[in-house]
Amino acid sequence: MCGIVGVTGVENALPYLLRGLEKLEYRGYDSAGVYLANPDGTDFLVKEKGRVSALVAEAQAQGVYGTAGIAHTRWATHGNVSVENAHPQASSDHRFHLVHNGVIENYQELQEQYLAGVTFASQTDTEVAVQLVDKFAKEEELSTRDAFAKMISLLDGNSAYGFLLMDSQEPDTLYVAKKKSPLLIGVSDHGNAVTSDAAAMLDMTANFIELMDGDIALVKPNSVEIFGADGQAVVREPFHLDIDPAQTDKGAYPYYMLKEIDEQAVVARTLAGHYFNDEGEIVGIGCAIGDTIKQADRLYIIAAGTSYHAGLVGKRYFENWANIPTEVHIASEFAYDQPLLSEHPFFIFLSQSGETADSREVLDNIKRQGFPTLTIANVMNSTLTREADFALPVLAGPEIAVASTKAYTAQIIVQAILAYSLGEVELDLKQELAKVAVEIQAITDEKATFQAIAESALKDQHSAFYIGRGLDAAVALEAALKLKEISYIQTEGFAAGELKHGTISLIEEGTPVFALLTQAKTAGLIRGEVAQVAARGANTITISSKSLARPDDAYVLPEVDELLMPLLAVIPAQLIAYYATLARGLDVDRPRNLAKSVTVQ
Ligand code: F6R
Repeated sequence: MCGIVGVTGVENALPYLLRGLEKLEYRGYDSAGVYLANPDGTDFLVKEKGRVSALVAEAQAQGVYGTAGIAHTRWATHGNVSVENAHPQASSDHRFHLVHNGVIENYQELQEQYLAGVTFASQTDTEVAVQLVDKFAKEEELSTRDAFAKMISLLDGNSAYGFLLMDSQEPDTLYVAKKKSPLLIGVSDHGNAVTSDAAAMLDMTANFIELMDGDIALVKPNSVEIFGADGQAVVREPFHLDIDPAQTDKGAYPYYMLKEIDEQAVVARTLAGHYFNDEGEIVGIGCAIGDTIKQADRLYIIAAGTSYHAGLVGKRYFENWANIPTEVHIASEFAYDQPLLSEHPFFIFLSQSGETADSREVLDNIKRQGFPTLTIANVMNSTLTREADFALPVLAGPEIAVASTKAYTAQIIVQAILAYSLGEVELDLKQELAKVAVEIQAITDEKATFQAIAESALKDQHSAFYIGRGLDAAVALEAALKLKEISYIQTEGFAAGELKHGTISLIEEGTPVFALLTQAKTAGLIRGEVAQVAARGANTITISSKSLARPDDAYVLPEVDELLMPLLAVIPAQLIAYYATLARGLDVDRPRNLAKSVTVQ
């Protein structure tokens, strides 16, 4: 969840590192720090609590510089948010500095066993790691590489790490290691870099070497040496990443979230173009995926958060179009409470980042049981895509705002296309997706309407509800998550029929209740439920589809195939969440306590 960058072999690493951290800030933003070293032996450590901007101001005020350096933006796991707990963490004599993404499960045992006399400056597991390197280097006279490898060999098998270490006695060398945490080495003819996300280093290079779990690498100004898990030298060729750096910029938008909401029409078109040929036949899904799924008697969709909500919608496509019973599970629950499986299960992992630790845990378990797996993710080359048997891209482009928007709709579309490819469906899905794209565009063009709804209904509220039935209930969960995670208004998404079984007691005078109404079969029932809460004082705001609309509905959605309506119904909810958050004066892109990619369990 934290962000890591390192640079060596440049005139001054500081601007690269700070720009990198700014790009990575969406991954964690409790505190940030940088360590810089020079061939003449001078070095600098600057750490600040809060946003990267505080670190930038302090580093510039102190005038620090270095031809190599490492930097980190933190999402706290061990130890509260403080300068002491910020990374880089240093060994007691400040010879070694380490930044770390992940969790060392047995750090307390290691501390007790090896570091009894050492005084610790922080409460972090990372400090234990760097003190261990120091101890092994000094007491056992190991080279830095061997001390680093020895420290790693002591970590509990469940530990996840991306490490970037510097030894002040070798100020041009970055020591790198990873397990279950993404790290890439960026190579160029004007210095080399290390990063947990390629987007952070694109202004230095677009050529990256992917590290594998268990690798240790030494990155120097003109060379990269990699040692595999068995300690033997390996050569890994760089790949060229085709990302336009502009894709990771906000451009003229005030927030990434708004840009990403607006991009959804384009993403729908991109997916239709990628997965269908001109004749409307599916081309982007290899036969092996379809053949394997067809042998399954049940699909299990595994995901977390917004991706889980996308899975709840996808289930309907697999059941209605492909005729395969489908279950959707929260990854963190499934990992430790696996239900009784069918005889021939097939697992689909849904993820924006492809790095979510909860989902990775399930994938590991399922692989051990020998069942076939597919990951549908936005970040290809991520752990979940690499480790599953099959992978399909979501092609939403970099999603930077912590609140996921375009990855949700894109995941729904990819599931729809996959389900469509497995069955015989009357619908022309390619054409229908073109219509979806046009209508998403039309809805996003009506921002003023959603701003007015958000400001009048939510500005001063402490709680709210989204209700719906069937597919609308699935969208209600996502709509509620979007609103609560960024505006901090406690919002529940509810299957409307359940309200009267208890939760309706929370309805007070003026409580906002958003009703989603796009499914003909249950439209009358929802109308009844809206009346029930209105009779108890709720401020009801109904978002309906055209053929089901009534004159006093707050917003009427254009119509596409009913099963695809979630793709439209979620857009007002995203925009309402955005404008409610703005109205409350909060940071839309970086809600408190959250991070974009949840790489710890
Ligand atoms: C909410 C959000 C999260 C993620 C969840 C899973 O807006 O983005 O709920 O959906 O953390 O992450 P991924 O999809 O990367 O596996």
